[in-house]
Amino acid sequence: KMKARPDMEVFVGTLVHSTDADPLLVLHNSVLGVINGKIEFMENVEELEQLKAEYGFTEGNILFLNSNQFLMPGFVDTHMHAPQFPNNGLALDLPLLEWLQTYTFPTEANFSDTAFARNVYSRVVDRLLRNGTTTVAYYASIHLEATKILADIVHSRGQRALVGKVNMLRNCPEYYRETSLQSSLAETEEFIKHVRNLQSSLVMPAVTPRFAPTCPEEQLAALAQLAAKFDCHIQTHLCETKPEGNWVMELFPWAKSYTQVYDSMRLLGEKTVVAHSIWVSAEEVGILAERGTGVAHCPNSNLSLCSGLCDVRALLNAGIKVGLGTDCSGGYSPMILDAVRRCVHVSNALSLDRGSDYCPVTHKEAFKMATLGGARALNMDDKIGNFEIDKDFDALLIDVQAPGSAIDIFAQDTMEMKVDKFVFNGDDRNIQRVYVAGRQVLEGTSSAAVSLG
Ligand code: GUN
Ligand code: ZN
Repeated sequence: KMKARPDMEVFVGTLVHSTDADPLLVLHNSVLGVINGKIEFMENVEELEQLKAEYGFTEGNILFLNSNQFLMPGFVDTHMHAPQFPNNGLALDLPLLEWLQTYTFPTEANFSDTAFARNVYSRVVDRLLRNGTTTVAYYASIHLEATKILADIVHSRGQRALVGKVNMLRNCPEYYRETSLQSSLAETEEFIKHVRNLQSSLVMPAVTPRFAPTCPEEQLAALAQLAAKFDCHIQTHLCETKPEGNWVMELFPWAKSYTQVYDSMRLLGEKTVVAHSIWVSAEEVGILAERGTGVAHCPNSNLSLCSGLCDVRALLNAGIKVGLGTDCSGGYSPMILDAVRRCVHVSNALSLDRGSDYCPVTHKEAFKMATLGGARALNMDDKIGNFEIDKDFDALLIDVQAPGSAIDIFAQDTMEMKVDKFVFNGDDRNIQRVYVAGRQVLEGTSSAAVSLG
């Protein structure tokens, strides 16, 4: 049996996480020990006295959760545009391609100003941590300096993230495009080296061709080579709207499909995550599954921009790794809990005109997509996603009765019911502590005051 050590942080109470057998498993009377940011042990104990006698614990090094509290893995946001953050809740009255030209490119162009970037990016990281997002796949802008600043801020705040300098050379305004293929590649390489020089185990660079319409063939191929050379993640957009897909077929007349454009450029692999994948054919689903490429499902964005209803069930049935994304500011909410709820509703809506054997995605499955599924989509499930021995301790301490909580708890509510109520009615006020690799990263606010025991 594991014995308590002075450098061990121990939690006793209810643990909630996803496993292969159960997408939303509630473990009562659990004890979880963390050493050096990693989960050292996890066991069930019936009695506190047993805990003291068998493990040698004293009250001093144990955090006892009460019956309104539980520990869960941190949320994973598999797709988020940091420079679009000032537009959250604005400008959702145009379809994707017009929305990009009218609102999004002009907004991102502001990040040539590094002081502006520093201010906005600090607020982005703070907001996401406050919402319990411990891991994010960030798109920055085309600007090298501002993108380095985003990586530095993520690093200093202790968040786990992929960060990408956006690559695009065409079909965007003159004032907001990379100047040449050569400089695009040189700056991307410099960014990769900058992030690697941080010597962080949490922040990683991602090669980020915006999407096929803004990247000529030579650029897509060269970026794939760069990612292979540095063994980097890759992130891009795929099959978000019908007009976008038609345009890609015009721009790449030789291609069999949008997915095949990326595949033939060698952009699809286990370390690639593509956003949306709404309008994919069965063959394209097959390619994504075979390559082990992850999909970032962003239901708020897909509904807000009227892009479409993604058939997540079909993707899951094909064995594709699906995580959730906020896609701010195509989606207006920077909270993965919002994506969980909208994922369920999108699937319910789709089920209305499918056969009666169509199984909509349940809230338990959506919870899994928000944690373990996201970790898998980003190829990080060896380190994060759920509570397993030797994984990093990325966790949230949830209190369903925290001050100001919007959750109504009644005497007859079981822990399972409290967890479900958090999934549907919880928000940042219920997130009392946020840990990334064992480090507490949430800046204190009044609503984050912790009352334990
Ligand atoms: N496709 C290419 N760029 C973008 C973007 O910034 N947001 C969304 N939602 N789709 C995109
Ligand atoms: Zn996006």
